[in-house]
This record gives sequence, structure tokens and C-alpha cells, in this order.
Amino acid sequence: MSDQSIPIQHDEPQGALRESLLFNLVYCSQARAGVENADVDAIIATSRRRNPVLGITGVLVFGGGVFFQWIEGPKAAVMDLVKLIEADSRHELFVILSTDEEVRERIFPTWDMELVGIENIQEVLQDAIDTACEQKSIDALQLLLDRLQTPSE
Ligand SMILES: Cc1cc2nc3c(=O)[nH]c(=O)nc-3n(C[C@H](O)[C@H](O)[C@H](O)COP(=O)(O)O)c2cc1C
Repeated sequence: MSDQSIPIQHDEPQGALRESLLFNLVYCSQARAGVENADVDAIIATSRRRNPVLGITGVLVFGGGVFFQWIEGPKAAVMDLVKLIEADSRHELFVILSTDEEVRERIFPTWDMELVGIENIQEVLQDAIDTACEQKSIDALQLLLDRLQTPSE
């Protein structure tokens, strides 16, 4: 109990339009031999427990032994998490595909970390493009979609 008035906490600067910047990062990697769906389910369970605390949302795509993850949130939180993920022994050949630190809107605001099969990712990205308000988000998503449609060697 305190007789002081409780200050209202603001995570973001005050002012209706002053949203804080978000950072997003996309990487792909290869699952280590022996990693199966149960391991991926465990990763999702951990992510759903930890990501809300970190203010992180995103999508994890898994298919054909390849991971592809979009992570969005405050920059420091995303970078710390990415360091942890990169060091995870369940995958290798970790390659960052893109980063963007000027995004203001979340593309996946309600997904603590959603698992999407490779067969559905184009649909998910297209939906995100259709609902995104900022041109920057649309461009980033379109780039991902184009990359997915261009088979790599
Ligand atoms: C492909 C992949 C994606 C991951 N994504 C996340 C994530 O979004 N959030 C998270 O907390 N951990 C994620 N992890 C797990 C982390 O690498 C790490 O194991 C975990 O955060 C540690 O949690 P713990 O300290 O509770 O065991 C991922 C791991 C892999 C292999």
C-alpha cells in the first residue's frame, strides 16, 4: 500500500500518433537431421510462452527440413532472441534474409508465434499484404512472397 498516486505506465511516447518503432527480422535455416514435427511443436510451445513477455510476434514456417521465421517486436528484444535462436542446436545454416527497423505496424499482431506449413505460407503472406496499411510492410511482404515463388538452387 502506498499513499502516492500510481503513475500510469506508458511503454510508448504519449500522443495518439507516436507509436514506437518496431523491428522485424526474417531468417531461414535448415533443421538438423533427426528434427521432427514433435521438436517443432516444442519450439512453438516455448515461443508462445516466452514471446508475449518479450513483446514479440511472428510466424514460423517449417517444411522440407527448412525453417523460415518472421520475428517482429522491439529491436533489442528481437536481437537478443535471434542470438538465442541462432545458437539453437536444432538447426544450422542460419541466414538472415532481411531486417527492417522503421516499421510501425505489426504484421502478425495476434500471433505469439504461429506455425505455418510451407503449403500455406503464400496464402498467409498474401493475407498479410491485403491487411497491411503501410506501404513499407507491403513491400517487405511482397519481397518475401517473390522469394518463395522463385525456387533457389
Ligand atoms: C527455428 C527455431 C525458432 C525458434 N523460435 C523461437 C521464438 O520465436 N521464441 C523463443 O522464445 N524461442 C524460440 N526458439 C527456441 C530458442 O532457440 C530457445 O531454445 C528458447 O528460447 C530457450 O527457452 P528456454 O530458456 O525456456 O528453454 C526457436 C528455436 C528454433 C530452432
